[in-house]
Amino acid sequence: MNEIIWAKNIDKSFHVGTQDVSILKNLSFETHAGDFLIIYGPSGCGKSTLLHIILGLEPPTHGQIQVLSHNIYNLSEDDRADFRKRHIGMVYQQANWIRSLTVVENVAFPLTLLGEERLSTLAKAEKMLARLAMKDWASYIPTELSSGQQQKIALARALISDPELIIADEPTGNLDFDSGQELMHLLTELNNQGKTILMVTHDLEYLKFAKTAIHMFNGEIKDEYTDHKLQALLKEIKSKRGNGEALKTP
Ligand SMILES: Nc1ncnc2c1ncn2[C@@H]1O[C@H](COP(=O)(O)OP(=O)(O)OP(=O)(O)O)[C@@H](O)[C@H]1O
Ligand SMILES: [Mg+2]
Repeated sequence: MNEIIWAKNIDKSFHVGTQDVSILKNLSFETHAGDFLIIYGPSGCGKSTLLHIILGLEPPTHGQIQVLSHNIYNLSEDDRADFRKRHIGMVYQQANWIRSLTVVENVAFPLTLLGEERLSTLAKAEKMLARLAMKDWASYIPTELSSGQQQKIALARALISDPELIIADEPTGNLDFDSGQELMHLLTELNNQGKTILMVTHDLEYLKFAKTAIHMFNGEIKDEYTDHKLQALLKEIKSKRGNGEALKTP
């Protein structure tokens, strides 16, 4: 199968003072091309730490990880950075902008880093903005835009190098309900066009957009949901909401 991520028995601990604190415990999972995987769990359960491992930013303490069939931690740090730039698009809760550059220049920037010539990068960035219906904002400075608009620009920047995998860490965290839904619909559209999406959230509201869901709790995978099991979970969430129960991550 086309494994995009393959993780086996991942442990991660951090040295804090004189102690090793265990954050991720024996995580194994895989995701395949075309998946829309949502990893959900409460604040502090280790979601971002797991993403950092997948991104090649933080080696696991134990265990194996392959991204697009590459043993990324066998690569040098420079090669890992290059791999990330070419194959993974990232969207965070809050985008980091180069403040001296316009929207279109920020979107083009990853291609500049890959050594592409300026005019061609700008032409591609304009096309990408048009695809996300954001062309009218091309010459603004990103921070002049609303949070929802900035997240769409961040998505354009993540997509510019045509990566196989989009990783989004709480991309809706700063957005109101409508902007959050709009961003999720855009991600769904990209998924329908063949992009594999891995998104992390603590908000159960977004699970309805997933094809697969992984519930993380206290550094462990508590459960995995696909097909009928995912539908049953969504039904349960809906009925709890209907009863006015708080939609808290378990
Ligand atoms: N570099 C580090 N050194 C020490 N502890 C760390 C480090 N990075 C993360 N942690 C700890 O790991 C735990 C998990 O953090 P992580 O950021 O992965 O959680 P999260 O699930 O993404 O939470 P949130 O939903 O709030 O973003 C936290 O207790 C955090 O303090
Ligand atoms: Mg996090």
